Amino acid sequence: KKGDFDHFMKKEIHEQPDSLTTSMRGRLKDGVVGLGGLKDHMRTIRRSRRIIFIGCGTSYHAALAARPIMEELTDIPVTMEIASDMLDRKALVFKEDTAVFVSQSGETADTLLALDYALENGALCVGVTNTVGSTLARKTHCGVHINAGCEIGVASTKAYTCQIVVMVMIALAIGSDKMSTLAKREAIIAGLIKLPEKVRDVLKLDGEMKALAESLIKEQSLLMFGRGNNYATALEGALKVKEVALMHSEGMLAGEMKHGPLALVDEHLPIIVIATQDDSFSKQQSVIQQLHARKGRLIVMCSKGDVNLVCPDGNSRVIEVPQIVDCLQPIINIVPLQLLAYHLTVLRGYDVDQPRNLAKSVTTQ
Ligand code: F6R
Repeated sequence: KKGDFDHFMKKEIHEQPDSLTTSMRGRLKDGVVGLGGLKDHMRTIRRSRRIIFIGCGTSYHAALAARPIMEELTDIPVTMEIASDMLDRKALVFKEDTAVFVSQSGETADTLLALDYALENGALCVGVTNTVGSTLARKTHCGVHINAGCEIGVASTKAYTCQIVVMVMIALAIGSDKMSTLAKREAIIAGLIKLPEKVRDVLKLDGEMKALAESLIKEQSLLMFGRGNNYATALEGALKVKEVALMHSEGMLAGEMKHGPLALVDEHLPIIVIATQDDSFSKQQSVIQQLHARKGRLIVMCSKGDVNLVCPDGNSRVIEVPQIVDCLQPIINIVPLQLLAYHLTVLRGYDVDQPRNLAKSVTTQ
């Protein structure tokens, strides 16, 4: 079933142009997003005081990636909850809330317990899952299937990018009654149509990412700095590296760098800085300058053609990726990091599809 690929993770990374197409199929018609599973609840969602995104691991990261556009298009504040933490804190949930549960398997124990808790507190509960008939799909009031196709590798890859696409479509659907964001919505829909082709394009970095992995194979640690739309990319890239390549890796909010992590910077520790074009670009440029001033060992991810803007002295390694509308950029940017995690794992001799101590679906608390 792996076809021409050595591992499911590699197959699933390379399937993303197709899985994204499937996720969008039948849902984008004449510039309008139609999500049958939410139609009957749209009035309630639009009237909610707050949207809460809830998930674990990669699914939480997908929600985090979609948070900026959800707020921008809906004008509803979005708060983030890791399912276990929501339960630990007995977080406040109100009847006026819409709680969106994100889970590839639809069977993650923490997420399902958080769902029971939100149902008890009277919130409208929406499911975003890849598994038709799962407990999450059955217990939520309404929802949208990701349709990424079956994911076998323990490390989630294609489900992540499809989850983001689905949540962007949810944001478009909720915000479709607002004239003020019409131009942005049109730009996003145009971006969605081009997305599979751009993902195909970024997959061509496979060889480059293998070479990068070769240069990092003996490292103890790898940091990733992102912000805004790509804070989630840094967290998710680092999670992939730690869970499959068994290498310490941390994703960090670049805005927090000077509040502590800067102390780690020296000429040895590799740091990936995500600096593709969007509203945060100039802030990321100054982060790069500050890291250079401390002789940081940088690998900068930038939009195609921006090498001179992010690395004027030619003193860092650069990963150039295709540019797309800001809220879809995390889908492009995660692909080279998935490839990097994959190659690091194979080169370090670990099991890519069955990482040590991990299971595909975490059904215990
Ligand atoms: C990481 C990974 C996990 C899952 C998490 C939630 O690659 O797969 O972090 O994302 O266990 O699983 P689901 O999405 O099935 O609820």
